[in-house]
Amino acid sequence: MNIRKLHTDEHPPIDLLVLADPSESLVEEYLHRGECFVAESDQKIIGVYVLLPTRPETVELVNIAVIEPMQNQGIGKRLVIHAMQTAKSRGFKTMEVGTGNSSIGQLALYQKCGFRMTGIDSNFFVKHYAEEIFENGIQCRDMVRLAKEF
Ligand code: ACO
Repeated sequence: MNIRKLHTDEHPPIDLLVLADPSESLVEEYLHRGECFVAESDQKIIGVYVLLPTRPETVELVNIAVIEPMQNQGIGKRLVIHAMQTAKSRGFKTMEVGTGNSSIGQLALYQKCGFRMTGIDSNFFVKHYAEEIFENGIQCRDMVRLAKEF
């Protein structure tokens, strides 16, 4: 598997990006302001992440996804580690990430990669998404904010 920056003349893998964020308009906005990286295997895109600078020395991992047949094989963790190395090499001191209260696997992944919880954005998903989101039998209402210092 090779992880590389998406070239400016390439189409971003929207089908994959909307797995992480069902709002295509928010995804388009992140892509416009951030940097998109893709993981490839046999010339096929199997994973993606987007880094978005938010404040001086702070970058947010706004979108990370792995194609469904290849989930739970360690690729997501490799993408998070690659994202942290990329951000560090560019001089960022803090990486932030936000995920739903119902995103149990994602909360596990980020904490296994060293992120700590820093806050809750209450009702974020109720306010900003037209459709109700359910995962693991739990309604996704709040965004759990996590951060890691380098
Ligand atoms: N309980 C405990 N640990 C768990 C659980 C769980 N329910 N689910 C996952 N994990 C752990 C795994 O055991 C693994 O830890 P380990 O390496 O110590 O064994 C770790 O989480 C990561 O597992 P990976 O196999 O690397 O994860 P994967 O390749 O499936 O990628 C991802 C994770 C990107 C979340 C993938 O499942 C995906 O694309 N999901 C759909 C899109 C999505 O939800 N993206 C994130 C949205 S939030 C955002 O983008 C900021």
